[in-house]
Amino acid sequence: MSGGREERLGAGALATPAPATTARPVAGRGAYVLVHNTSEVVTADPEGRRVVRHPRGAIAFRDGRVLELGAAAELSRRHVDARPINAGGRLVTPGLVDCHTHMIFAGQRAAEFQRRLRGEDYATIAASGGGILSTVAATAAERDDALEKTLAARLERWRAAGCTTVEVKSGYGLRPAHEIRLLELVRGAAQRVPVRVERTALLLHALPEEYQHRRAEYLETLITRTLPEIRSGGLASAVDAFCDSVAFSVDECRALLTRARELGFAVKLHADQLTRGGGARLAAELGALSADHLECATEEDWGVLARAGVVGVLLPAAALTLGQRLPHATLLRRAGARVAIATDFNPGTAPAQALLECAALAARMCGLDADETLLAVTWNAAQALGVEAEVGHLNPGACGDAVIWECETLEELPYWMPAVRPDTVIVRGADLALPALERRVWP
Ligand code: NIG
Ligand code: FE
Repeated sequence: MSGGREERLGAGALATPAPATTARPVAGRGAYVLVHNTSEVVTADPEGRRVVRHPRGAIAFRDGRVLELGAAAELSRRHVDARPINAGGRLVTPGLVDCHTHMIFAGQRAAEFQRRLRGEDYATIAASGGGILSTVAATAAERDDALEKTLAARLERWRAAGCTTVEVKSGYGLRPAHEIRLLELVRGAAQRVPVRVERTALLLHALPEEYQHRRAEYLETLITRTLPEIRSGGLASAVDAFCDSVAFSVDECRALLTRARELGFAVKLHADQLTRGGGARLAAELGALSADHLECATEEDWGVLARAGVVGVLLPAAALTLGQRLPHATLLRRAGARVAIATDFNPGTAPAQALLECAALAARMCGLDADETLLAVTWNAAQALGVEAEVGHLNPGACGDAVIWECETLEELPYWMPAVRPDTVIVRGADLALPALERRVWP
């Protein structure tokens, strides 16, 4: 963090969060700041279609929200009472949004990664006791307080990397009671950190061992008992499923997600990852917020998603780990796709703990330009969570979540590897201290 900050803001009132969104209150009412001396302030336009740049611009926050952004001279005149934050000639963007993570889990699967490098495939490893089920066992054996503390530490690591909104899926519980346990722990962890957390119930991830011969019963239990329980407890805002030949069929996912939608959840889908099986089309049919992965989706699938207004989420770390390709930007542009990029952080396919690094990879793998890459980790990622009215941009009225980066131009964000680090992360208009750089990467 650069020096010269007159004060640090303490806890206070935040606008009332949506039921399944939690963040520790950070900005007091009356907080009024002006970020000035920037190289440029960049944001998505009010439709989230293109990037708007304000060279040497300034931005005013009040009561945790964006008040106005524009020319520095004018804003400095208008906001003389605001507490100044000197950006030191650096780039300012909206706070980043990681719209796809599985970050509540215990253990790690580095040995499995070695097996994969020697040529074994995902399905073979899963069938021989590795894969999702091994993380499910490790997570079940872990104490509640350890899982919650680890998750809070991870969320702080994400904030230090510039993410102010993070989605966390359950999914390593599998048994209904275990999925609910994980969602409750996500809520607990989110209350400890100044990060906006969107909770998603990933309910069809793998079949628990005791249901191996009772597949229909598992689905039925999730539909009739688990979904209503999650809903009445306000434990998640969205429901996700893994639609793939190694996981669950289109019909199974349709049955779960249709009921989820009826209950008022938003829906999402792990689609067309290992095989092309109709996941993208199902996401379009259901009006899902997003279809994620899509390594095996065709240009036609991307067109179907675009016409249905479904965000396509690219997960470059998972694609690289599994030796897959991502679609080229020319195809995505032709299809009119709205594209987000996320970490997919999980111990199996994506031990990726930095969103901007993932964005830098996707830019290279797909040929996305700097503007497209920024939209993919801000507005489009927010839309993949249904929260683009609130976050993912710096238009007046949006949450005051922004990052002052240790660089001067937007083009540097996808360029440097390791990625540019934040100088200051502003959450709800407050420039809170960042956690010290850690030496340990896990947990
Ligand atoms: O998003 N695709 C399914 N789920 C995770 C991987 C889960 C695992 O291998 O633990 C993913 O890549
Ligand atoms: Fe995933």
